[in-house]
Amino acid sequence: MVQATFSARREKIKGQPNPSLIFARVSSHQAADLVVQLSPAPKSKPAEVDFGSVFTDHMLTVEWSLTEGWQAPLIRPFGNLSLHPACSSLHYGIQLFEGLKVYRGDDGRLRLFRPTLNMKRMASSAKRACLPAFDQSELLECIRRLVEIEQDWVPHSNSASLYIRPTFIGTEPSLGVKKPARALLYVILCQAGSYFDTKNEAVSLWADPKYTRAWKGGSGDCKMGGNYGCSLFAQYEAEDYGCQQVLWLYGDDQQITEAGTMNIFLHWINEDGEEELATPPLDGIILPGVTRQSILDITREWNEFLVSERYLTMAQLCSALRQQRVREMFGSGTAAMICPIGHIFYQGENLHVPCQDQQITSRLAKELTDIQVGARTHARTQKTEVNDVSR
Ligand SMILES: Cc1ncc(COP(=O)(O)O)c(C=O)c1O
Repeated sequence: MVQATFSARREKIKGQPNPSLIFARVSSHQAADLVVQLSPAPKSKPAEVDFGSVFTDHMLTVEWSLTEGWQAPLIRPFGNLSLHPACSSLHYGIQLFEGLKVYRGDDGRLRLFRPTLNMKRMASSAKRACLPAFDQSELLECIRRLVEIEQDWVPHSNSASLYIRPTFIGTEPSLGVKKPARALLYVILCQAGSYFDTKNEAVSLWADPKYTRAWKGGSGDCKMGGNYGCSLFAQYEAEDYGCQQVLWLYGDDQQITEAGTMNIFLHWINEDGEEELATPPLDGIILPGVTRQSILDITREWNEFLVSERYLTMAQLCSALRQQRVREMFGSGTAAMICPIGHIFYQGENLHVPCQDQQITSRLAKELTDIQVGARTHARTQKTEVNDVSR
């Protein structure tokens, strides 16, 4: 019988350091399969690093095979993977990833922000990639344990955090486009600075329908590496035009979909004269961003203007810009959180987007940060979604 899920229970420890930390949350009724091998030589932590370049001392790995199901999760010293050269993730891109952060609050406690939404998105990416199902709460518990072990890596700052990168790859050791019979789920962690320092710097976007990020029936709503690798060429063309990111358009009516790797929001007076915060609907070509969902939740609670998931086209945007009906435009995502948009280069014209006041962007950035670091409770996220790592 194939074991369908792995379990974070029945925790065993190999190696030494800090037993009090390790045993702190083990209770006998939780059978832990998790094996922990601590690094004998923890690295010194750099003061400041470029995002994604310095990783913590440990990683989580969980192997799966069709014949044996999920193996015991393992937290072990960070290190290289050994992969078969025919490995299906390398040849056919059968893989996916996630991205979330752990924040240290003023109270010193560590919090994940709505991690269940990342687990849900990861499960849906896995289904689309024909990778095996996993138990979302068990994986989250393993991640929580990894973060707990690496807690000293979480910056003591409101403006920096530890980035968590769950990754799931097909490790089928034979050629042929087929469901992998072997897979590896792993999680690595690295320090992440803040975009707050540059919050006033609005980004410029290049909008050209010649490239498409995602399409109906495709996999643009999943976090698969192929979606990102394919976007690189357009990103460099955007830079040739002096822009920082691509504004991804879709369809004959040039729908505005996403900005770079961020969801997009428009705060404007709409065609009916109503004040509205709008973002494109999750119709299969938009990545269901955790930040996007949180912005919708928060602004709907403000109840100060219409908050809509609706289509927005370049024609509508251009006409609103001409008629000065645009208040602000911004991208959203875990990395940048809220990123104001200042210019859009479109059809040979550099469209100026108002971003001086940053009324909504700064208010949202403040509110989101406060929730993330635990300085403020938010009924919806706080009650059911925020995990306190050091609980
Ligand atoms: C294409 C794309 N859109 C939007 C987002 C924002 O998602 P989130 O808010 O979950 O980080 C991301 C980042 O994961 C992304 O890669």
